[in-house]
Amino acid sequence: MTKAELKGKTAFITGGASGLGLGTAKVLANAGVNVVLADFRQNALDEATKYFEDKGQPALGVKLDVTDREEYAKAADAAEAKFGKIHILFNNAGIGIPEGNIWEDKWEDIDLAIDVNYRGILNGIKTILPRILAHGEWGYVVSTASKAAIVPVPKFTLYNSLKMGVVTVMETLKMDLDAIGSKVGSAVFCPGGYTTNLGQSSGELRAKHLGVEIPQMPPPPPPPKDGEAPQGPPPGFEMPDFSKIMRIPEEAGERIVRAMLRGDMYILTHSEFKKGWDERAAAISRAFPDQPQNEDYKKIFAILMGNEVFNKQTQVPGYAYGDEY
Ligand SMILES: NC(=O)c1ccc[n+]([C@@H]2O[C@H](COP(=O)([O-])OP(=O)(O)OC[C@H]3O[C@@H](n4cnc5c(N)ncnc54)[C@H](O)[C@@H]3O)[C@@H](O)[C@H]2O)c1
Repeated sequence: MTKAELKGKTAFITGGASGLGLGTAKVLANAGVNVVLADFRQNALDEATKYFEDKGQPALGVKLDVTDREEYAKAADAAEAKFGKIHILFNNAGIGIPEGNIWEDKWEDIDLAIDVNYRGILNGIKTILPRILAHGEWGYVVSTASKAAIVPVPKFTLYNSLKMGVVTVMETLKMDLDAIGSKVGSAVFCPGGYTTNLGQSSGELRAKHLGVEIPQMPPPPPPPKDGEAPQGPPPGFEMPDFSKIMRIPEEAGERIVRAMLRGDMYILTHSEFKKGWDERAAAISRAFPDQPQNEDYKKIFAILMGNEVFNKQTQVPGYAYGDEY
């Protein structure tokens, strides 16, 4: 698949009204792809859809909560009614919930995180993928996980583990799509830090599902009183320029499109996280018992020993926003 061949294809993007979904929609639309923005926030959806209409780029906004399977089927019908075939599913909607020690988390937050961050991904695959397979043309399913999937962080059991679940879903999907000789690719996107509206949109989804109040942005800290030390970083600590650290969603979109053209299974964004992954992989490797292997066992259970999809993922060249690919 080349960038030119993307023209006229259709992408269904969940969480498409904001952040990484919207940034990717912009990159796809610039390549001539029809974009379907599916999101539960009508205001954000209206604003995002208008952006494409003003540019004369084909776009459709559909109201969708990915936890609602009936609504999902209707959204897919609307996309097909407008653009014909769907080729790309960007299964991207996700949330963060208030988390701490898992044994202290609230049941309703646990269930909501599973509903959106895991069931929502399966709902997307079950609803859209059969439609892509039915027309038989090139297609791709990309699901958004997180860097937290591959290097888990303390006190985020749900986010870490559900996102790791998404990694495994997409790896298995790749095996199963290859096994039927389909032209549909499968990839998992594991972003590091991007400037988006995740805090705000997660609060709104929690309010919708759990009836809690939408959290307001915290007020700025009060100015120091006379004689009081100013709040801020400790002496000697130089605050980095966050605008140079956090990346923009369009940059993520370029990485995702490049990965689809390359046929990649893993889409990673920050080489800084490689160390954590290497340590985790090495720890698991060391945990295998150091003892001779049974060759008969290996033959009988060959399917458990590995899969060629892993060898298909090649080294990804570096990328800086604006580079050609
Ligand atoms: N921003 C980051 O640095 C970062 C890092 C790792 C992973 N992620 C993941 O990226 C994905 C996109 O988030 P973002 O950072 O772009 O945030 P965002 O808030 O800017 O965009 C997410 C969009 O998804 C929508 N959404 C949330 N729940 C939904 C639901 N149930 N049904 C339909 N739409 C829903 C929101 O309304 C919002 O428009 C999420 O899965 C998130 O977990 C983000």
